[in-house]
Amino acid sequence: MKTVLVTGGAGYIGSHTVQELIKEGVSVVVLDNLTTGHRDAIRSKYFYEGDIADTALVEHIIKEHKIQSLIHFAAKSLVSESLAKPELYFYENTVKSFVFLKAAIKGGIKEVVFSSTAAVYGNPKCIPITEESMLAPINPYGASKRMIEEYLEWMGKAHGIGWVALRYFNAAGASLEASMGEDHDPESHLIPLVLKTSLGLQEKLSIFGTDYATPDGTCIRDYVHVIDLANAHILALHAIEQGLPSNIFNVGTGKGASVMKIINESERITGRTITIESKERRVGDPNILVADNTAIKAALGWEPRYSDLETILSSAWRWHSSHPNGYRRLPHF
Ligand code: UFG
Repeated sequence: MKTVLVTGGAGYIGSHTVQELIKEGVSVVVLDNLTTGHRDAIRSKYFYEGDIADTALVEHIIKEHKIQSLIHFAAKSLVSESLAKPELYFYENTVKSFVFLKAAIKGGIKEVVFSSTAAVYGNPKCIPITEESMLAPINPYGASKRMIEEYLEWMGKAHGIGWVALRYFNAAGASLEASMGEDHDPESHLIPLVLKTSLGLQEKLSIFGTDYATPDGTCIRDYVHVIDLANAHILALHAIEQGLPSNIFNVGTGKGASVMKIINESERITGRTITIESKERRVGDPNILVADNTAIKAALGWEPRYSDLETILSSAWRWHSSHPNGYRRLPHF
C-alpha cells in the first residue's frame, strides 16, 4: 500500500482511519470539504479542502500523489436530516459519489473501500443480520448508500476495480489518548448525548421509546469502537491488494446493548447520575440491530479489540470531558 486517498478524512470515522493508517506507516492524502468535518481532526500531511464532485481536483490529486487506493467516507449521515431533505442526501451522497468514483477510476484508482451502513437493512426480519438479509432501507440515508454499493458492483466489473463496502453498525468511542472523538452538529447519537448530559451540557437525556419488544423496553444496538472500524478498512485494503474478490461486509460485534444499558454503564464509568425522561419512539428506529460478523472475520481476519462497552464508554468519556466543545475552540472574549 503506497499512498491512500481518504475522502471525508476530517470526519469521525475517517479521521480515526487516517490515524490508524499513519500508525502503519502509510502515506495518506485527505480530501474533505469541511462542511461537517473538522480541520483539527485531520492527521495526514497532505490535505485538500475541496469537494468530491470537483473532478479536476480529484484527477489532480490522484496524479500528483500517484494514488491507486481509496477509502471513500465523504457523505452526509444524519438519518433525521435525510428524511426531511431526501434531495440533499441523494445529491450529496449518491450523485456526488457517482461523479467522484468515475473520475477516480479514470484517474487510476484500482482499489476502493466504501463506507456503507447497516441502514441499508431497514427493519430486519432476523437477528443477527447477515449480509444476505433483505435490503429495505427505511430512510433516504440508507437508500443513498445502497445505491453507491450497486454502482460499485457494476463499476468494479466494467473497469476491473477491486472494492469492499463496509456496512457499519453503531460507531462509538474515541481515540484512546482522547485527542480525537465524535463531534456532530447537531448531535443526535446516544452515547455523546448521554455523556454531554453527564457533563451538564444538556439538562436531561430523552429515551426515545420504552415499549419496544426488548427485555427492558428500550432499543438494542451493536456498538463498535471507531478504532475497530478503522482497522476494518485497513484490513479490507490489504485484502483487495492481495486479490480478495470484491465484497460487502457487516462491521459489528455481534452483541447488542440497550439504551438503558448504555445509560447505566455510563453512570458507572463517569460516577455521575443523569436525569432521564421517556419520550415517544423516534420515527424509523428498528427495535434491534445486531450484526452477524462471521463473514468479515473469515475473509479479513477482523476481530473487535476495543468494542467492549467499558472501552467504548471510557474512551468517549475522556474525549467529551476533555473537549466539551468538541473540536471547536472556546470563543475568545
Ligand atoms: N436514542 C435515545 N435518545 C437519544 C438518542 C438516541 O433514546 O437522545 C436511542 C435511539 O432511539 C436508538 C439508540 O438510542 O434506539 C441509538 O441511536 P443513535 O442515534 O445513537 O444511532 P442509530 O442506531 O439511530 O443510528 C445508527 C447510525 C446511523 C445508521 C442507523 C441505522 O448512527 O448512521 O444506525 O439504523 F443509519
